[in-house]
Amino acid sequence: MTILVTGGAGYIGSHTCVELLNAGYDVIVVDNYYNSVPEVLNRVEKITGKSLKRYECDIRDRQGLEKIFGENDVDAVIHFAGLKAVGESSQLPLLYYENNISGSVTLFEVMEKYNCKKIVFSSSATVYGNNPIPYKETMTTGDVSNPYGRTKHFIEQILGDVYKADNEWSISLLRYFNPIGAHESGLIGEDPNGIPNNLMPYIARVAIGRLPQLTVFGGDYDTKDGTCIRDYIHVVDLAKAHLCAVAKILEGTGIDAYNIGNGVGYSVLDIVHAFEKASGKKLNYVIGDRRAGDLPAFYADATKANKELGWKAELGIDKMCEDTWNFQTKNPEGIK
Ligand code: NAD
Ligand code: UFG
Repeated sequence: MTILVTGGAGYIGSHTCVELLNAGYDVIVVDNYYNSVPEVLNRVEKITGKSLKRYECDIRDRQGLEKIFGENDVDAVIHFAGLKAVGESSQLPLLYYENNISGSVTLFEVMEKYNCKKIVFSSSATVYGNNPIPYKETMTTGDVSNPYGRTKHFIEQILGDVYKADNEWSISLLRYFNPIGAHESGLIGEDPNGIPNNLMPYIARVAIGRLPQLTVFGGDYDTKDGTCIRDYIHVVDLAKAHLCAVAKILEGTGIDAYNIGNGVGYSVLDIVHAFEKASGKKLNYVIGDRRAGDLPAFYADATKANKELGWKAELGIDKMCEDTWNFQTKNPEGIK
């Protein structure tokens, strides 16, 4: 079975490639390396002792994609490729709509042309917007406050329409909660360009001394310690969810959304303290203003993924922090 992985050199994509190769799939990565480096794929090969096929190609490049689908017999696609910085998406909405939505539509068109109608799509908990917690797949989606989140909602809707028009498609929409952690080898992990937007890579860079101080965005929320609550999930657990989803889409047809989270909420300060324990370092932090657009608390009801995909998160917060720290200390300047 051959799985084409768009964005396979990225953070979640690379961990998923490891799991796919370990499970015996043939893997083809398509990435333009906008937010990653080819060396990551060498490391995936090193971890697994297996090789994958790679194409440097933008998913908006129809001819490039057609060449790849023409040269290979692709059984299913896992579609990670996209831009993901929430703040940047408000400043550069057209870039986000063009890259994420136009790129996805081009990919789906080429898949259809080559009769490959099985796809797992990287969606996000952000599609739920301001719903009661825990989030369930039955809730209304789309009340989203930023262009990045809207691209996820729109692509879910587009895939819904694609399925309505042609019931031969088999589609899994995975709504990720907050992925953190790294492969336990320390060879791959999250390595954002510039100053990180997200909590865990920011903490890791403070701990290693590349950034002076963490600002906790808001200490006056109506939560147990005043800081925001999120559902953090180990990236390896998340990668394994893709294996379960691939098995499901290969079996039949249909479209389904699944929450991929732990179902447990941790505060920002819980994460700070867990990271201090894992690293043995005292973290320099201050409580600052709230960040615009942040919801006070959300976490998943992940029972549907458990029942229908046979998937459940297994790794806890300590392991998430240990593996992040292991990756950070082994790659203090990131992956070059
Ligand atoms: P990432 O930036 O590490 O990986 C994305 C990969 O896609 C990168 O390697 C990048 O170079 C590539 N890419 C981007 N645009 C492309 C294009 N036009 N053509 C080809 N390749 C392109 O991000 P990630 O954290 O691994 O996220 C993967 C997916 O999961 C994204 O779609 C993201 O929106 C989604 N997601 C991420 C999170 C998170 O917190 N990390 C949460 C929910 C959903
Ligand atoms: N935070 C800080 N200081 C920082 C960075 C973050 O206190 O320097 C706080 C935030 O305020 C939030 C929590 O840490 O309370 C987590 O923030 P992240 O930026 O790591 O994650 P978000 O929950 O804001 O969003 C992430 C992804 C989105 C995705 C969402 C749900 O960035 O793409 O999870 O999956 F949609």
